[in-house]
Amino acid sequence: MKMFIQTGTRGISTYQFKMNMAVTLTNTHHSTLCIPSLLKQSQLLGGFNVSSSFRSLSSSSARSKPVVSALEIGGVTIDKDDVVKDDPTNNVPDSIYTKLGLQLHKRDKHPLGILKNAIHSYFDTNYSGKFVKFDDLCPIVSAKENFDDVLVPADHVSRSYNDTYYIDAQTVLRCHTSAHQAELLRNGHTHFLVTGDVYRRDSIDSTHYPVFHQMEGVRVFSPDEWEASSKDGTTYAAEDLKKCLEGLARHLFGAVEMRWVDTYFPFTEPSFELEIFFQEKWLEVLGCGVTEQEILKRSGNVDKVAWAFGLGLERLAMVLFEIPDIRLFWTSDERFTSQFSKGQLGVKFKPFSKFPPCYKDMSFWISDSFTENNLCEIVRAVAGDLAEEVQLIDNFTNKKGMTSHCYRIAYRSMERSLTDEEINQLQFNVREEVESKLKVVLR
Ligand code: PHE
Repeated sequence: MKMFIQTGTRGISTYQFKMNMAVTLTNTHHSTLCIPSLLKQSQLLGGFNVSSSFRSLSSSSARSKPVVSALEIGGVTIDKDDVVKDDPTNNVPDSIYTKLGLQLHKRDKHPLGILKNAIHSYFDTNYSGKFVKFDDLCPIVSAKENFDDVLVPADHVSRSYNDTYYIDAQTVLRCHTSAHQAELLRNGHTHFLVTGDVYRRDSIDSTHYPVFHQMEGVRVFSPDEWEASSKDGTTYAAEDLKKCLEGLARHLFGAVEMRWVDTYFPFTEPSFELEIFFQEKWLEVLGCGVTEQEILKRSGNVDKVAWAFGLGLERLAMVLFEIPDIRLFWTSDERFTSQFSKGQLGVKFKPFSKFPPCYKDMSFWISDSFTENNLCEIVRAVAGDLAEEVQLIDNFTNKKGMTSHCYRIAYRSMERSLTDEEINQLQFNVREEVESKLKVVLR
């Protein structure tokens, strides 16, 4: 059972449990999605609240850049105060606000933009331009759009404050582009692709970052389309879906070996994931399925059948361009950006340097409310993109029932050598913040 596709080698990651999901949407001229100025409701959704305590921290990399106080997405102005609030129902740190509006997928010379364009051209060629593309829908959506509208159960883990960034109890940073399905269907769209930045609280390693990019595709069929065949609607849509996505995988990867694996998503039935055999490994490239009838019914598409898919752009781009670390997508270092050109899919990235990592260990007795995501949020707040990996290396419970965790933090810059002094200071700050914010006892 999964919910969401992340980007990394851990497969579908934390969303692998049964449920997760989201939704929102807007029309071609969008902006109905952006609802930043609502709310102010202090009812906590339960789960964990890290809230505003991390905001006072500034990462060493963020320190040099002034944090903007307003940005524009799809014609809507979003003030920092609309997103980062000192309120227990809000858990969005400054570092996440600074990513809003960057829209890497809209840069034609960026690997993510090059990949998006290549997928668009596959659909344009094979469906004579029938798929309408959205890549400017606001990432601020209601929890209803992100979860309820795509049938994510009320008690699903993805709804927790530990997994999702909440602006307030009813408003989130979308955690998948499926958040836009229902609205677009309601607006009468029958063929569409939605690309956008999505947000998830997560652990830290070379393939996971709290912001990444997804593309959603949806196609709706009317009864006359499957009635002409001898198949029922669901079989017809599932076959069409598989044919479409196998063609897409060949378009991107060439003649690769592929396999379909049955899976679970709350919004599709049946559900599948597509894996390709690449560099000696089976790699999961996307999740998809036949849209739940309830979603179609609620959007005014009674009697219709539809398919939907969602894929993680970073995950595919890391493979296609041989990009070894997900943080590189965010760098403005010319030694990275100058290696890619518009329309050039799959140019192999040449690492420009490998600075040595520095490892620091930290042990503490945890409390019941401790979560790794909260620890990682602190590490990111202190060290920014200098944090390469946070790994649990030891875990034991003593006779008194106290549990100790030891985490190893790898610090590494992709741009320069870090000094001992700088790393010691970062680690000192991490320890202080962890002790004061996470209710743990350092050992
Ligand atoms: N939203 C799912 C995810 O984030 C992907 C998906 C989209 C699966 C559409 C099925 C249909 O993992």
